[in-house]
Formats: sequence, C-alpha cells, structure tokens
Amino acid sequence: REIYVNGLGGTTPLASTTYELLRAKAQEVLEPKAYAYVAGSAGSEETEASNQSALRDWQIVPRMLAGVDLAQFDSSVTLFGRRFPTPLVVSPIGVQAQLHKDCDVATASAARELGIPFTLSSATSTPMEQVITGAGYDEEGDEGQEAWFQLYWPSDDDITRSLLARAKKAGYKVLVVTLDTWSLGWRPRDLDAAYNPFLHGEGVANCFSDPVFVEKYCEGKSPLRKDASADDTQAASIAAIGLLTPGISRAWADLALLRELWGDAPIILKGIQALSDAQRAVEAGMDGIWVSNHGARQVGGACGALQALRPIAQYARSQGKTVIFDSGVRTGADVIKALALGAHAVGVGRPYAWGLAVGGEEGVAEVLKGLLADFELTAGLSGHRSLADIGAHSLIRRGEEA
Ligand code: FNR
Repeated sequence: REIYVNGLGGTTPLASTTYELLRAKAQEVLEPKAYAYVAGSAGSEETEASNQSALRDWQIVPRMLAGVDLAQFDSSVTLFGRRFPTPLVVSPIGVQAQLHKDCDVATASAARELGIPFTLSSATSTPMEQVITGAGYDEEGDEGQEAWFQLYWPSDDDITRSLLARAKKAGYKVLVVTLDTWSLGWRPRDLDAAYNPFLHGEGVANCFSDPVFVEKYCEGKSPLRKDASADDTQAASIAAIGLLTPGISRAWADLALLRELWGDAPIILKGIQALSDAQRAVEAGMDGIWVSNHGARQVGGACGALQALRPIAQYARSQGKTVIFDSGVRTGADVIKALALGAHAVGVGRPYAWGLAVGGEEGVAEVLKGLLADFELTAGLSGHRSLADIGAHSLIRRGEEA
C-alpha cells in the first residue's frame, strides 16, 4: 500500500519495479562472469523460456464487486503449523559474495524484517552461525521470523552429520534438501567463460568453518587461518565441491539418515517435478515438497516448473503436506498463479539476487516488498479478499473462454 501510494521512482536504491530493468541494472554493476553465473541456466536455456511460458499459459479471470478492502487484505499463510505474514519464501542462492559484500547477512536481514522465511544455501559465502547472529535471528523474533537451512547432500555422512548438527544448534527451523544438484548442470555461459565461483574459495564457507571437514579433508589445518596458502585454499575448495556435488545421486532409502539427524523438525525436498517422486517423498515421511527446476539451471530441455505443480500439489495437500513452488516467479500475477495451482508458498530467486547486487539489504527488501504489493493489489483487483480466496476458480488456461 505504501509503495502503491508513494511510488518508487527515484526515491529508492533500485528505482524500478520491473524485473527486466532490475536485471539490466544488476548487469551494469556486476562482473560479467558473476552476472552470467546468476542469469544463466542449463543447455540452450529453453527451460528458462518454458518456466516463463508455463506461467503465461495460465491467466487470471478478474471478478468485480467482491467487497475487497485492500487495507485489510490478509496474505498470511501457515507453513508447518506456523503462521507467516506473507506467502513468500526466499529461495536459497549460493555464492552471494559475488553479488554484494554484505551477501547472505543482507538477504537474511531483509527477509527477517518482513517475516519471510530465509533459506540459507549450503553454498554460502558466510558460515551459517554468522548469518543467524548477523541477521539478528538469535534475538526473540516476531511472527514468521525463521531461517531455514538448505542442504547440498554431502557424499560423506560425517560431513552431513556435522552440518546438520550445526544448523540445528544455530537455530535453523526447517531442513530443505535440494535433490536436483548432485552435479552442476551443463551451463554453457559458465563453461564458455571457464567460470566456477567455488574454486576461488567462495560458496564453501560452511565447509571451511566445519570442524569435521577441517579434520578429515584439511589435515586439521583450517583453510580460514590467516597464513593459509593459495594452494591450501584451492585444495580445500576442491574437496568441498567434491563433497557437495559428488556426481553420484543419492537414493530414496538414504532419507532415513536425514530424518534421524534432523529429528521431528520439518524436512522439505526441493527439486521435485514428478508426481511419483512426490509420492515417494511422502512415503519416506517428508513434511513438504518444493516444486522447482532450480531456475532452469540443472536439466536443459526440462518442462516448465509450473507444469509440474498442480498434480503434485493436489496429491501432497491430500496427504497434509506443505507445497512450495519456485522457478520463474517475477510478478504478483505469477505468485497468484502458483498459489491458485496449489502452492502454500512461493519462492523468490533471481529477483532478489539482482536487488542484492544493486542495493544490498535495502535492495533485497525493496524487491520483496514490491512483489508483495504487486501480489496484493493484483489479487484484490481481480476480486480476491484474501489469500484464502485464491484457488482453481481464479485461473483459466490461455485460449480458453472465461
Ligand atoms: C540458485 N538456486 C539454488 N538452489 C539451492 O537449493 N541451493 C543453492 O545454493 C542455489 N544456488 C543458486 C544460485 C543462483 C545464482 C541461482 C539463480 C539459483 C536455485 C534457487 O533456489 C531457485 O530454485 C531458483 O532461483 C528459482 O528460479 P528463478 O525464479 O530464480 O528463475
């Protein structure tokens, strides 16, 4: 509401509410390789186009005189039995130091302020404990102020044990297990530029700060120590990359170990696109399904992520499970579409990465607030009084008669 009344023009760090303009601004301020790393996706990047076209293939049918009061619009959702003021989630993005010096802490602070769950990537530039304290999560938080931990599942169970014990102790509330990135996808922009940000010691802070990793893979000598040589750092980086993306996928039965380590707290599987996988996840006792194709970065030629949502959401909801969707969400209308097709909450990815690059913490906050304002206004103008009013009746497929 505040944004709608006052406008943004020129008064804020980003000065744009349009995804394309924001992306172009970020491109101006970033190193070309870092920009390409974030912007790029797998293969011919046709799946990125499919993420967008899958969203365009559904359209909203506005309804009038529905008694909507925008000031009263209730956007709150319940996830894992807890109330959050918005249906947004911050998707995990690794190696944020290439975007802004304040990196993970800036993103987490912006999300915390807005009551939006912040998902910390395994591949951060800041050790997980420092993000919690730096972003103020260790203080008694308000409603919805939660950080979640995303796991790239290490090939060494000792490292998995250590990372999860640390995450639990630090106060991360939900474990997000990303299943789609046991190897990096075929990403031509990075391959052509010979760019791997992890090799420069970025994105491996959680390993470098891990006592078990240091003991087993660095001969007990921390790569974070002041006199570590460039060779030591490189060797430790390669060891960390080899653990987090080993080139060998896990199997369903292995989830039992994660359940044992994480206890009763929620576990959500990220990267699910097949209904049969969602069924296996439920059988394995998981609490949620995060429908995503990793922003089209893993399987070139894969379907648009939204095409996978509806059947999975129907099934998962019937089992009492939580459904999150991401990949391609850029506007309030996109959020409405994902919610209408069954998501409980919607993950924001690249938009906040560009906001971080251009404006640090303020930039992230502005992107998230702008998306939320667009969502509430668009939902209200199309006749929804609250988030609960959004459903299958809100949409038609492109080409259908309303
Ligand atoms: C990601 N994503 C991601 N996912 C994850 O589980 N762990 C990670 O470390 C990362 N890192 C990462 C880096 C960059 C640069 C991008 C763009 C994406 C995927 C992310 O969580 C989310 O699924 C996508 O960003 C959603 O797609 P859009 O909306 O960004 O296109």
